[in-house]
Amino acid sequence: KRLILVGPPGSGKGTQSPLIKDEYCLCHLATGDMLRAAVAAKTPLGIKAKETMEKGELVSDDLVVGIIDEAMKKPSCHKGFILDGFPRTVAQAEKLDDMLGKQGTKIDKVLNFAIDDSILEERITGRWIHPSSGRTYHTKFAPPKVLGVDDVTGEPLIQRKDDTAAVLKSRLEAFHKQTEPVIDYYAKKNVVAELKAEKSPKDVTSDVQKVLSS
Ligand code: AP5
Ligand code: ZN
Repeated sequence: KRLILVGPPGSGKGTQSPLIKDEYCLCHLATGDMLRAAVAAKTPLGIKAKETMEKGELVSDDLVVGIIDEAMKKPSCHKGFILDGFPRTVAQAEKLDDMLGKQGTKIDKVLNFAIDDSILEERITGRWIHPSSGRTYHTKFAPPKVLGVDDVTGEPLIQRKDDTAAVLKSRLEAFHKQTEPVIDYYAKKNVVAELKAEKSPKDVTSDVQKVLSS
């Protein structure tokens, strides 16, 4: 399967991705995770992206399209993939269609994580992540066994620099202005399935399974 996960910050894309990935043996390509790794490693790409990400704005289309183009060459992505956080502009969606068209493939489903903005601040400000695995926790909704510590490795958890109420405002603005049109773009191709992302993580997972098995 070739899937796109789209939704505002905190809607649950990164929480659901590992579950879908394991069930369908897909590769998980999250542009946000890849950019954060580049920032941490201080690569030329990371140095370019850092400031923009900390402001909650979108990095340039060329930069992320380049990352995705490179990542999709991995053999593990040939059978299918989950795109989490990409495409985020109509220009990115058009580039993606070109890339897939050249391989004779296309997107099977776009999962739209629909949720009211008012719920997101609590989700974002309570999030803790394990940077090397991408595992995500929440102080209230998905607490780790030991506060501040990853359940699997025992390594420390961190908070994202852009997970503040102030930066969330710009991220939401970018979502409504630049990413909502991407949902319309795919709706015209009849591949969008809407999920009620305010439900519990378990209920969202079972809704995803229903959509993908239908
Ligand atoms: P990115 O990393 O993609 O961030 P985002 O889109 O803002 O999404 P989040 O990761 O915040 O949300 P999520 O839906 O994954 O939520 P999660 O499941 O973790 O992008 C970051 C930045 O990189 C961008 O601002 C931009 O600068 C740049 N960038 C990335 N891609 C780009 C692109 N294509 N073009 C240009 N720039 C790009 O859940 C959040 C919290 O809620 C967690 O704590 C979780 O435990 C909890 N939670 C999850 N589900 C539930 C539930 N059902 N009930 C209760 N709590 C829940
Ligand atoms: Zn995420």
